[in-house]
Amino acid sequence: MRELTLEKVRRLFPVTRRRVYFNHAGTGPLPSTAVRAMHGFIRKAVQEGCVAYSEAEAVVENTRLMTARLLGVKPETVAFVKNTTSGIIIAIGSIPWEEGDNLIMMKDAFPANTYPYQLLLPGVEKRFVTALELTEGPECVFRLVDERTRAVALDWVHFLSGARFDINAIGAFCQQHNIFFILDAIQGLGAVNHNFSSTGADFVVAGGGKWLLAPQGIGILYVNMKKLPRLKPFNLGWLSAHWQEFNDIFTPKPLKKTAARFEEGTKNYIGIYGLGAALKLLLDFGLESVEARVRQLTGQLRELLKAADFEIMTPEADEKRAGIITCRKPDRDMAAVGAQLETAGFVCAVREGWLRISPHFYNTGEEVERFVHQLKIVAR
Ligand SMILES: Cc1ncc(COP(=O)(O)O)c(C=O)c1O
Repeated sequence: MRELTLEKVRRLFPVTRRRVYFNHAGTGPLPSTAVRAMHGFIRKAVQEGCVAYSEAEAVVENTRLMTARLLGVKPETVAFVKNTTSGIIIAIGSIPWEEGDNLIMMKDAFPANTYPYQLLLPGVEKRFVTALELTEGPECVFRLVDERTRAVALDWVHFLSGARFDINAIGAFCQQHNIFFILDAIQGLGAVNHNFSSTGADFVVAGGGKWLLAPQGIGILYVNMKKLPRLKPFNLGWLSAHWQEFNDIFTPKPLKKTAARFEEGTKNYIGIYGLGAALKLLLDFGLESVEARVRQLTGQLRELLKAADFEIMTPEADEKRAGIITCRKPDRDMAAVGAQLETAGFVCAVREGWLRISPHFYNTGEEVERFVHQLKIVAR
C-alpha cells in the first residue's frame, strides 16, 4: 500500500481549502472517502432498486472488524447503534437494577450522559462526582461506592474542559467490586488510541459524528459479553436472531450470541458505509500516528494560548487530555470572539463562556498558528 501522507489525507478533507476547522468535539467533517462510500450505496439503491442484503451486510461486518480494531476488542463485542444516547439506553435497560440500588454518575457530564439516567431510573439513587474531582483522580468515585452501587457512568473525556479521566483505574475497581461501568467515549475515540479490552468497562459507546469523522446518526457500542448472563433481555428484535435467508420466515431462529443481538432491526446502512470509510482512513493513517498528531497540535495550541495570556481550563499533562483545549479571556465576551473567528473562517465552539478548540490529525501546525494569530486580534 502506498504511504498515506498528511498531504494526501488533507486532500480528502475539502474543508481545509475553505476554513480552519477546529471543532471536532462538535461535529467532524466527512472525508470524501466516506462520501464516496455512502454515495455508492445510494446510487445502487436508486439505479437497481436496492442493495443486496448480503452485500450490505458484508460492509457491516467489515466495519465491525474495523471498529473492533479501533477499540482493541473482539468484533463479537461490537454493535452499531444510532448515537451515544441509544447505547446508553441499551446499557440502562440491560442492567438488572434492584430496589435500593445506587448509581454513580457525573454532575456535569454532557447531558447525553445524564438525561437517560434521570429520566429512566427515577427509583435509583444518584451519587454525583464532578469533572474537576475526576480530573484529580478516581478516588472521588471510590469514596461514593457502597455494597448497593450497581453502576458507574462516566464520560471518558469531558466535553467542556477536555479533561481525560483515568478510566483504567475506575474500570479495574468496578470489575473487582462487581459494578457495571458505562463509558461515554465520544470525546476520546478517534483522537486517543486506547485499548478497551483491559479497561474494565462493560459498555463503551460513542456516536460517529465527531472525532470518528463519520456521519451523524450512526454510533458504536462495545458490550462486555462476559456479563451477558447477568443482563436483562433488552433492545432485542427480529434481527437479533440469526437469519440465513428470508424464505422461511416463521421457523424460529436462534438469538445471536454476539453483541450484534442489540441491533434489533434494519440497520442504518448508509451510516455504516460512511463510518466504515472514515474508520479505514483513521486505521490506514495509524491510530498511534493520529494520536501523536492530535497531541502535538493541541500541545502547540496550548503553548501559544498561554503565551498570549489566555486562561486555560484543560489540564496540562498529555495523559489528562485528548483533543480539546478550552480557553478564555475572563474579561472578554467569548461568544462574540467565537462569532468573529467564524466570520474570518476559523471554526471552534463556544461553551459556557469558554472557547473550545478541537483540532484533528489532518490539521497542521501552520493552521494552529494562523488560528491563534486571528484569535489574538479578535480578543484584543
Ligand atoms: C460527551 C458527549 N456525549 C454525547 C454527545 C452526543 O450524544 P448523542 O450522540 O447521543 O447525540 C456529545 C455531543 O456533544 C458529547 O459531548
